[in-house]
Formats: sequence, structure tokens, C-alpha cells
Amino acid sequence: MFNRLHNINEPTVTITIEDQQIKVPASDSVAAAMLAAGIVTARTTPISGAHRGPYCMMGTCFECVVEIDGVPNQQACQTQVREGMNVTVQRGLRDIES
Ligand code: FES
Repeated sequence: MFNRLHNINEPTVTITIEDQQIKVPASDSVAAAMLAAGIVTARTTPISGAHRGPYCMMGTCFECVVEIDGVPNQQACQTQVREGMNVTVQRGLRDIES
């Protein structure tokens, strides 16, 4: 669905998204890394379970919230990847005790 406009000629990091290890440019946001890997769902809605994914890519819509290293409600488009990061889809309501 999404393709990079150029080859990766910069340092990379390895992150895990939904148990899938991928190597991405170190300058990527989590949302860009997800979309480039073909992972378009960042969260599901609390009521209907509808899938939502990155939309505005500039921190406005909050459709891209994911869990990063166990911490919910992280905006994937506003978070830069880092080595060893573990990203999971946020399913429904977040745990308010987190
Ligand atoms: S894609 Fe809209 S806030 Fe992240």
C-alpha cells in the first residue's frame, strides 16, 4: 500500500511491531515505520472495535495511538523509533491503571 520514495541509505534500527521484527530508518516515526511495513491499524475503537490508523501524520487526529513498550496512548506519528522498541496495536480502551 505504501512505498518508500527512496532506498534506505541511513542508519537503521530494529523494532518489533505486533511480534514482527522490522529494520527501519532511525529517523522514522513509528507511524511511518508501521505504514511502510504494511501495518495500517494502530488501534481499535472501544465501542465497535473498528480499526483506525495514522491519518494526519502531524499529531492532530489521535487516530494513531498505539502501545509502545507497554505504555498505552502513544502517538505513533509523534514518536521516533529507537532500537528494541516494541509496538502493539491498542485494542479498545486503554487500561487506566497503566
Ligand atoms: S496520525 Fe494523526 S495524530 Fe498521529
